[in-house]
Amino acid sequence: MAEPKTRLICASEALRNSGDAQRFTLELADGSRQAAFAVRYNGKVYAYLNRCCHIPVEMDLQDGRLFDLTGHYLICSMHGARYVPDSGYCSWGPCRGQSLTPLEIIEENGQVWLNVMSE
Ligand code: FES
Repeated sequence: MAEPKTRLICASEALRNSGDAQRFTLELADGSRQAAFAVRYNGKVYAYLNRCCHIPVEMDLQDGRLFDLTGHYLICSMHGARYVPDSGYCSWGPCRGQSLTPLEIIEENGQVWLNVMSE
């Protein structure tokens, strides 16, 4: 059985509750690259591919600002779809009912790691 592999994303303190996302890039097995992000919500870190379910574009303006003004939804800057941060479920907008692609995150010893098996 393969050893679990992890990749450092950022220090825990870089992610504040409902604050800016930490953007990163996945290198997929086929050599392609995919934008992704990690956010902290209600104390826990969540990560998703940075790809809206409506049209496959990055949801922010490459500035890591994904939370809406309430701090309870991730919002796509293109047409305003709103996603629930802890599930990735789209609760409002043109892609309502669909979900972001989640990535497995491990937070320990003050650092946030991506489980690379999910790449
Ligand atoms: S591309 Fe995200 S809501 Fe349209």
